[in-house]
Amino acid sequence: MAKAVRFYEAGGPEVLRYEDVEVGDPGPGQVRIRHVAVGLNYADTYFRNGTYPIPLPNGIGVEAAGVVVALGEGVNNVAVGDRVTYTGFINTLGAYSTERLIPAAPLIKLPETIAFETAAAMTMRGLTSAYLMKKIHAFREGDSILLHAAAGGVGLIVSQWAKLLGLTVIGTVSSVAKAEVARAHGCDHVIDYSHEDVAQRVRQLTGGRGVDVVFDSVGKDTFMGSLDSLKRRGLLVCVGTASGTIPPFDPQLLAMKGSLYMTRPALADYIAEPQEKAALAEELFGLVGSGLIRIEINQHYALQDAVQAHRDLESRKTTGSSIFII
Ligand SMILES: NC(=O)c1ccc[n+]([C@@H]2O[C@H](COP(=O)([O-])OP(=O)(O)OC[C@H]3O[C@@H](n4cnc5c(N)ncnc54)[C@H](OP(=O)(O)O)[C@@H]3O)[C@@H](O)[C@H]2O)c1
Repeated sequence: MAKAVRFYEAGGPEVLRYEDVEVGDPGPGQVRIRHVAVGLNYADTYFRNGTYPIPLPNGIGVEAAGVVVALGEGVNNVAVGDRVTYTGFINTLGAYSTERLIPAAPLIKLPETIAFETAAAMTMRGLTSAYLMKKIHAFREGDSILLHAAAGGVGLIVSQWAKLLGLTVIGTVSSVAKAEVARAHGCDHVIDYSHEDVAQRVRQLTGGRGVDVVFDSVGKDTFMGSLDSLKRRGLLVCVGTASGTIPPFDPQLLAMKGSLYMTRPALADYIAEPQEKAALAEELFGLVGSGLIRIEINQHYALQDAVQAHRDLESRKTTGSSIFII
């Protein structure tokens, strides 16, 4: 019998239930996939707690890697036996499962150089890092960035990628141990934002100028400090909201702080075009397959431990990527 984690009401980690499920045969445009590893992403907590509302009951998880075991009518982008990975948004919900049906469109074939576990740890975080590094801003060698939650899953990939582009990376973390992890993955400077003033330290580190771009995945708690860390006409990229959503503000604030730019991007809009998605995936697989970027899987869980996995992620216990092993 296949197993899946599902939830019936929005709430804390305890709403997640590990259950038997009937999978059935794939319909038109669908495949049946047997998972080997499943990604645990911060976005999963937003679905679970109702920040991203969805009809309930529902499955959870948007990213996994495995083997195609059956094809529905009209599927021609993958074959039975293919090693594949996927990520998405509502279209891929239900990844916390041993086997499932899924639309074929989001599937990406895995090269032999990429293990299932690595794929589950980086399809979401790595493609996100790819568009943040390649599509959001035309970086030039010597540019500087401020990267919040630098020891996290996205953080460790972005910091390594940024160093490959020749950027100066200032990372923020919440502990001494996380500072070590961030430094080991390319951060030139690390600020402990649990007790240091981020904007003040960034001004010191940049000779008063401020950074070119801030990648802020923390949201509510860091928003003002992020604006105050930018150079004139710098760019704030609101990547996520791990501490809560940013309260409404008057756009005049951006003028007062130096004619700043701001974007709140979503991966879905950077992989909507199949060619663009294929190019980002190829670049990511190339960098990881050749060892230029390391994917750190620092937490492994069984699917029945999803409640604990969510607790660990939300209580800031994790570094790097977390996955479920099936
Ligand atoms: N926009 C997109 O396309 C996109 C795609 C993927 C992911 N994301 C976003 O990227 C971010 C990172 O995702 P991830 O899966 O790699 O997670 P992660 O960074 O591994 O975990 C979140 C980290 O946020 C930091 N944090 C700061 N304040 C927090 C708080 N109040 N509660 C919990 N954590 C807090 C913690 O690091 P410290 O302890 O060091 O503070 C924590 O480890 C998330 O915000 C996610 O939503 C966005």
